[in-house]
Amino acid sequence: MVQEFKKVGVVGLGTMGAGIAEVFARAGFNVIGVEIDQAALDRGRGHLDKSLGRAVAKGKLTEEERSAIEERLTFTTSREDLTDADLVVEAVPERMDLKRDVFGDLDRICKPETILATNTSSLSVTEIAALTGRPEKVVGLHFFNPAPVMKLAEVITTVSASAETVDIVTEMAKRIGKTPVTVGDRAGFVANALLVPYINDAVRLYERGVATREEIDESVKKAAGLPMGPLALADMVGIDVCLAVMDVLWDEYRDPRYAAAPLLRRMVAAGHYGRKAGRGFYAGRDEAPEPRP
Ligand code: 3HC
Repeated sequence: MVQEFKKVGVVGLGTMGAGIAEVFARAGFNVIGVEIDQAALDRGRGHLDKSLGRAVAKGKLTEEERSAIEERLTFTTSREDLTDADLVVEAVPERMDLKRDVFGDLDRICKPETILATNTSSLSVTEIAALTGRPEKVVGLHFFNPAPVMKLAEVITTVSASAETVDIVTEMAKRIGKTPVTVGDRAGFVANALLVPYINDAVRLYERGVATREEIDESVKKAAGLPMGPLALADMVGIDVCLAVMDVLWDEYRDPRYAAAPLLRRMVAAGHYGRKAGRGFYAGRDEAPEPRP
């Protein structure tokens, strides 16, 4: 079945969507990237060009390989072009109204066999599946940032997903070089249920003035051998994404350890979403501001 899969749609070409499109194209799939308008499409292509350019510069890809990958990538602003996609991965911002719009369209447009996957990091996959008339063909396929690099792909199953759909998506994840782990649809799934509260705890230490952002990040890096500290990681994955995950954990469990740090919420209110917004714990700040609780 998976052997017959040729065409993969990716809806939303932000940081994650562009990375996901790259991963599928590099694995030999024809990928159709969809964005809402031409400006967003151009930005998405920009992410892809930069990432492929970096791989060439590092000698990880030859010019010929890059050209072959680029030939497998097409771009459109029309979801109608996804009619014959075998798998569509949605990677639009984390708002249920946007997911409703996208999944409503995909359900109407895509052939009945098309499997629909969401890269959501904070919303319920079961609820997203219920927006369609084919919930048995909807699962989560959750990538980690940067998608071309991080090996894990969570395959999120639901009470309505069929075993066949889960098997196919798991097989697809292997085909693109990821390590799939099947997890249930609970807030944060597995990786974010562990990672994001840890980031949140680092924000709490920072806003209480226990240590500087550099001291917090260096401590964790050197203590646990991680490639980057929690505040740098928050900037990279998006402070808005971290808050969204904390809020779903809170909603689901009402456990005080899942209460979002006030500074996390204030930064989101201010539009300081991290690297993508040019403002975060490090982004746009050479000097760390003194926390004022
Ligand atoms: N796109 C593509 N490739 C990238 C990249 C990007 N954005 N950023 C880095 N890379 C590649 C580099 O090209 C390099 O490739 P190579 O080994 O083949 O030469 C490799 O990654 C290492 O990059 P660098 O040498 O430039 O830099 P580092 O060694 O500092 O690594 C990092 C950068 C890979 C981001 C590393 O710091 C890291 O692994 N950080 C932790 C990331 C992490 O924990 N992600 C999970 C976040 S949680 C999440 O995403 C879930 C969501 O739902 C919130």
